Amino acid sequence: MKPNRIPALIGLPVSAVSAADCTTEAFSEILADVPEASINYVGRVPEGGSFGIPSLAFPGNATDLPAVCAASVNVRSSPDSSYNFGLFLPDTTWNERFLATGNGGFGGGINWPDMGRMVHYGFATMSTDTGHNSTAEDASWALNAPETINDWGHRAMHGSVTLAKSVVEAYYGSPGGIRYSYYASCSTGGRQGLREIQLHPDSFDGIAVGAPAWWTPRIAAGTLMMSLINYPDDDPKHIDGSLFGAIQAEMLRQCDPQDGVVDGIVSDPFGCAFDFEALLCDASSPPAECFTAEQLETARATYSDLVFDDGGGSGDGPLFVFPGLALGTSPAFALSGFTQYGYGLFRYFVHNDSAWDYTRLTRADVEAADEINPGRASADDFGSLARFADRGGKVLLYHGAADSLISAGSSLFFYDAVTKAMASSGGRGAGVDDFFRFFLVPGMEHCWLSAAAPWYIAGGSQPLAGTTHSVPGFMDADHDVILAMMKWVEEGSAPEKLVATKFKDDNAAAGVQSQRPLCVYPRQAKYLGTGDVNMPENWECEDLGVNDL
Ligand SMILES: *[C@@H]1O[C@H](CO)[C@@H](O)[C@H](O)[C@H]1NC(C)=O
Ligand SMILES: *[C@@H]1O[C@H](CO)[C@@H](O)[C@H](O)[C@H]1NC(C)=O
Ligand SMILES: *[C@@H]1O[C@H](CO)[C@@H](O)[C@H](O)[C@H]1NC(C)=O
Repeated sequence: MKPNRIPALIGLPVSAVSAADCTTEAFSEILADVPEASINYVGRVPEGGSFGIPSLAFPGNATDLPAVCAASVNVRSSPDSSYNFGLFLPDTTWNERFLATGNGGFGGGINWPDMGRMVHYGFATMSTDTGHNSTAEDASWALNAPETINDWGHRAMHGSVTLAKSVVEAYYGSPGGIRYSYYASCSTGGRQGLREIQLHPDSFDGIAVGAPAWWTPRIAAGTLMMSLINYPDDDPKHIDGSLFGAIQAEMLRQCDPQDGVVDGIVSDPFGCAFDFEALLCDASSPPAECFTAEQLETARATYSDLVFDDGGGSGDGPLFVFPGLALGTSPAFALSGFTQYGYGLFRYFVHNDSAWDYTRLTRADVEAADEINPGRASADDFGSLARFADRGGKVLLYHGAADSLISAGSSLFFYDAVTKAMASSGGRGAGVDDFFRFFLVPGMEHCWLSAAAPWYIAGGSQPLAGTTHSVPGFMDADHDVILAMMKWVEEGSAPEKLVATKFKDDNAAAGVQSQRPLCVYPRQAKYLGTGDVNMPENWECEDLGVNDL
């Protein structure tokens, strides 16, 4: 059968004809008038099949797929750069909706695994490689590659979303037939979603983003500053890895009981007045479990705002850089040495010097990074979210309170900044709550996992053993953040809470261990005092903590 073509101007409605075949020829025809685009791959995957095109960021396949058409398209973005995007198009189960997902760190690769999870809902799913092929930590691809930096920063996502939507409609012979468009991802993927709706409010009707790396220059600066707090290793202030557990144990001891249950989960890290002095060595403490006064300052600094003093009397006042770790978070990532998550941006995006000495970070380096704002990646245009809100868009934001890669405080900062921007935009009558809700996930680490706490909400970068997608036994908008987003967008029913689930051994096949509500920030879950603490009905969302202090 004759496939549809996308008209020469991407984004115009296509004319109605029947569905294309899942062949390179059919896709070539669809894209015939888009000279920037070329086909890498088109082919069918049978039900239960596995598919991927391995990259350094995503070496593994999506597995256990429904029957789909898999495609990969290359798009030239400048004379020096191009990006690729992948598509999974469900055979018979398309729900007439589009869902894009994102990436991690500085990584480049199509996120086939998350696309594979989300195609099970019936979405046509899409992910871009952002224009390069690298692991999440490796930023060296960016050296003297401004066009590729632009692709990573914002261009590949927008170009991929726009072209992919046209391909989806042409493939299904359904011009204008995408009823809703969504986005779900975590970390850099969270940033990409927020950036896309800031720059292009029409791209999505709803986004569900976790632990967003939204403040690009500052995340790098904050990560590097934390590594420097514990450097060099032979300094008296240095905290050895063998002491990390003692910090976390004391934080649990002091901050865990406040939600009414001692269970290894700190529900309110921002409301805990932690006494660091309790870590100090005294005559009775075993030296392997306590801290000298110098080490105590290192611990304190790790859990405090990262700030440059008014250096050299410039008169500019101190510069707040980034929030430190939230109480209860493991210090292991922050204090175990240097990573490209900290210095990569400065070497390869800002100074263009692969030998730049990261131990000499100054305030001027941070200001230079702000000024350059590589790839216009930073999702810091808070006021522009009003345009997204005005056209009915919804944002669900969640962040693990025990995130050691991107401190949970950065999402609080984002939430506060959006709240202020909306208040000052005035006259719209739309409270922040009408389009933007934030859920702190107590105990959760970066994007997923917790030893003790319920964390699973079927978000981006939340693979769960023993299932293909969603929350087995609880496939509804109360437990699944993607279904919650759809319900909010399509039925106007905003989530007041989400119930997070912990499966035994983090394996859905092993059954549920515990569930607990996540409350719309700044409300918090509080145990009612009777009944099984592992059952969500024995908790309620209360106005506690930060606002009362
Ligand atoms: C990944 O999927 C491709 C395409 O279906 C297949 O050729 C390859 O064998 C798969 N790899 C693994 C490790 O399953
Ligand atoms: C990415 O690079 C790795 C290592 O060179 C290679 O094996 C892989 O095929 C590349 N993937 C893509 C999609 O280019
Ligand atoms: C490094 O290169 C980027 C473009 O990739 C440019 O914006 C930046 O100004 C350069 N930095 C310096 C110090 O020249």
